[in-house]
Amino acid sequence: MDANEVRQKFLDFQVKKGHKVIAPAPLVLEGDPTTLFTGSGMQPLLPYLLGEPHKDGKRLCDSQPSMRLQDIEDVGDPRHTTVFEMLGNWSLGDYFKKEQIQSFFEFLTKEIGLDPHKIYVTCFIGNEKYGIPRDTEAAKIWQEVFEKAGIEAKIAEIGSAKEGDKRGIKEGERIFFYDDHENWWSRGGGCESTPIGDPCGPDSEVFYDFGEDKQDVEKYGLSHPASDGARFMEIGNQVFMQYRRMPDGSFEELEHKNVDFGGGLERITAASIGSFDVFKISLMKPIIDKLEEISAKSYDNNTDEMRVIADHIRGAYLLAAQGLAPSNKTQGYAMRRLVRRAILRALDLGISTNFLSEIVPIVADNYKGLPDSILTHREVALETLLKEEVAFRKTLNKGLKELNKLSKNSKVLSGLDLFKLQDTYGFPLELSVEECYHQNIELSKDYQAEFEKALKEQRERSQTASKGMFKGGLEDHGEQTIKYHTVTHLLLAALQKLINPSISQKGSNTTAERTRFDFNLDHKMTPEEIKKVEDQVNEWIAADLPVVFDEYEKDYARNTLKAHGQFWDKYPDILKVYTIGDFEAPISREVCGGPHVEHTGVIGHFKIVKEESSAAGIRRIKAILTD
Ligand code: ALA
Repeated sequence: MDANEVRQKFLDFQVKKGHKVIAPAPLVLEGDPTTLFTGSGMQPLLPYLLGEPHKDGKRLCDSQPSMRLQDIEDVGDPRHTTVFEMLGNWSLGDYFKKEQIQSFFEFLTKEIGLDPHKIYVTCFIGNEKYGIPRDTEAAKIWQEVFEKAGIEAKIAEIGSAKEGDKRGIKEGERIFFYDDHENWWSRGGGCESTPIGDPCGPDSEVFYDFGEDKQDVEKYGLSHPASDGARFMEIGNQVFMQYRRMPDGSFEELEHKNVDFGGGLERITAASIGSFDVFKISLMKPIIDKLEEISAKSYDNNTDEMRVIADHIRGAYLLAAQGLAPSNKTQGYAMRRLVRRAILRALDLGISTNFLSEIVPIVADNYKGLPDSILTHREVALETLLKEEVAFRKTLNKGLKELNKLSKNSKVLSGLDLFKLQDTYGFPLELSVEECYHQNIELSKDYQAEFEKALKEQRERSQTASKGMFKGGLEDHGEQTIKYHTVTHLLLAALQKLINPSISQKGSNTTAERTRFDFNLDHKMTPEEIKKVEDQVNEWIAADLPVVFDEYEKDYARNTLKAHGQFWDKYPDILKVYTIGDFEAPISREVCGGPHVEHTGVIGHFKIVKEESSAAGIRRIKAILTD
């Protein structure tokens, strides 16, 4: 089956079941600072899952283009992609488990024609700590559904995926209970990682079995639905969204119990043609064919490279067709990264001249089925990407020059040198090594290990960043605490302006009652100085200045934007920067996870209640806000 056909069948099927088709949201959601891209169909529906009525009723469906950059390192295997379409249907306080499970099974077996014997499912085992019961209800419904199809489905207790790798599947087992790392869904992950305020719940996932012979047991352990390896592929997830995470960490039952179903269009299509490789489906194959033609190499021998290129150009096209341009910050930077990675992998295939002009039109053609309402800039997408390709080839040349400079300054290049070339100039390790070989530049004996170490450290830093970013946006910081947080930025700016420009933050702690701020200064502040600082902060509050944030590359934030930061060595490569006042001539600009008020006018009246010594050369201010 063709992917366009699967998409249409899904939507028609859902309409038959009383759903309204809604327009998918753009990949970049306006006004949602919590994630870079729309990563699932439910994301634009958050308010409705929490109870707000939707104008189109209680039964909705769509096919939502989604992007999960967190999967970027996994692209290259048969099923991971950064960009995909998520087929979705929702019950907003209408039908629940029984109707959903029956209906999805009907869709898969009757509409798509999958063999029910190849369908395996998982359910939530329960979580004692949070008082959330085992989902025996869903398991029972599944047993009935399979029984109707003439299959006796036995239940297996797996627990964690790791346990499953040791245990495997026993005769007749088809329904598997796993813990919250597998069968709990929230935007943040398992129970513990569920963001405050978010809707969430146990889920029941559906897997397609491509056959035991697909499992590489040595590498991945025994097969079971949640195992790694190519035997099982998740093709749909039914979330029974019946809870909301509360500020105290507990889970409260929602008044309306919702269903949030999401299924990967590419994966369901792959199952429909019996291919465990999603890159063989209609949306992908023409791209792969073209790559084989241009490189005169085969997919079978260059699978990883071709998968990465196909995936990344699809992602970059979707962003360009939505009007995004490559840049050095946030989504624009992600887009740049996709294009660069694709070009580099093409180099591995021996494609060293511009080739996007041959691939992008194929991708554009594949995406003809997506509505114009989201692909608003189709006509400029090709040009945007071609320009980026040309620019990146220049960057590569610059990298070469840097390499030559480095080799002039030191006789032996280290792995860290090569890492910097890659990180700063986008000049990849393989190219550096090859160039050094050609030019007889000596490399340190352990260059590979040194490079790996630097890369690992950088990854750890950026993981911390993305976690922090998610939290920054979502954690339920009380309104008062947020005001204190923003006024602390104003306080630092006033101290720098009026007392000493070299003052920097040495520590800070804000609560709903006060802010406490430590900074370097060699003397006790005089009452006049305190008064001046207070007045200045209050003046900025009265001016009702805008507070905005964005994400930037570290070097750009530090050197170009001149953001204030305390831990430059520890920061990740991409970080969030808050600016108060005019963007070109800001009052304050700091690296910070947020959140902050949007305008300083809401803060109230600022008063310093204490100024004291905190350590040698460090002063501490305590300040409060009054109405
Ligand atoms: N929101 C669920 C998911 O993304 C369906 O898997």
